[in-house]
Amino acid sequence: MSNKPKIVICIGSSCFSRGNAKNVEVAEQYLKDHGLEDEVDVDLSGGLCEGMCADGPNVIIDGKVYNHVDAGVMLDLMKALFPENK
Ligand code: FES
Repeated sequence: MSNKPKIVICIGSSCFSRGNAKNVEVAEQYLKDHGLEDEVDVDLSGGLCEGMCADGPNVIIDGKVYNHVDAGVMLDLMKALFPENK
């Protein structure tokens, strides 16, 4: 088991079409740009729904659920939670 921080991005059809398609790119690009690709796991999940679709796009970072995540929010979360380590 790795104890890396984990970002779970919902790719159920509702979240995916409402913003998470883009958020996957935002998260991966951020990690790449900051040399953090090996420090943080990104998981794509199709099964987060359980009544959460209406509040999507949904992203879970280290067990905390973030709702209504657009690309700007995603970038802010990345900056806040995974500061550049150089
Ligand atoms: S599609 Fe993401 S919570 Fe349902």
